Amino acid sequence: MRKLLIAANWKMYKTPAESTAFLTAFAPLVKHHDKTEIVLCPSMTSLPALVDAARSKSVSIGAQNMHWLNEGAYTGETSPTMLTAIGATHVLIGHSERRQYFNETDTTVNLKLKSALAHSLTPIVCVGEHLNERESNLTANVLKLQVSVALEGIDPAALAPLVIAYEPVWAIGTGRTATPEIAEEAHKIIRTQIAQVAGSSVAAATRILYGGSVKPDNATALCRLDDIDGALVGGASLDPASFAQIIINATH
Ligand code: 13P
Repeated sequence: MRKLLIAANWKMYKTPAESTAFLTAFAPLVKHHDKTEIVLCPSMTSLPALVDAARSKSVSIGAQNMHWLNEGAYTGETSPTMLTAIGATHVLIGHSERRQYFNETDTTVNLKLKSALAHSLTPIVCVGEHLNERESNLTANVLKLQVSVALEGIDPAALAPLVIAYEPVWAIGTGRTATPEIAEEAHKIIRTQIAQVAGSSVAAATRILYGGSVKPDNATALCRLDDIDGALVGGASLDPASFAQIIINATH
């Protein structure tokens, strides 16, 4: 059985004080939801305070990005050892905004995935097609390529912690959610491709999250589907009540 995982991606929102205030309001709202793994991914500057504040709570804290090397002359970057040193346990890799604005490629996603696994950080690898790719019937090709390159050269035995997030780019921040049918079809394509590259037992164990305009009112219909194992939530995760309601609805 794959445990449901609901993650918040706060993008470039919230100061450290705002992040811990969120947790104070949010934690009591989900304290009975131990069947769901909950992860908050704040900005780098909020990570230490949020890790500290989450210690006695069943909420994990992850970064939104990292470099694949442990150290070096890479101005502005954060390394996996820096993340584990402060107690972060998860990391988003290859979010479409990083691919779009910061030259993230399938190849750097592969390097980061290898590095995260080597440092025992749970990787949440983001994949997804652009609107023009969907309209040209290229969705399956895009997803298969993104998954194959991300997993290239990785021993299947090391992939147990892998989490994939399917985030169709046209659904991010647009209010235009993929229908449950569209999402389920894409998740099946991703799972089949994982099986091709890493074998069927890895594919069966990998959690695949849906992301893109997830809200309290669509969380139930999405998360109830066989191949959807949770959600990666942007805008609706910024408010404690709304994010808690997504978690509550996703488990029903
Ligand atoms: P929205 O939920 O705001 O569409 O963002 C989705 C996302 O990018 C999560 O990583």
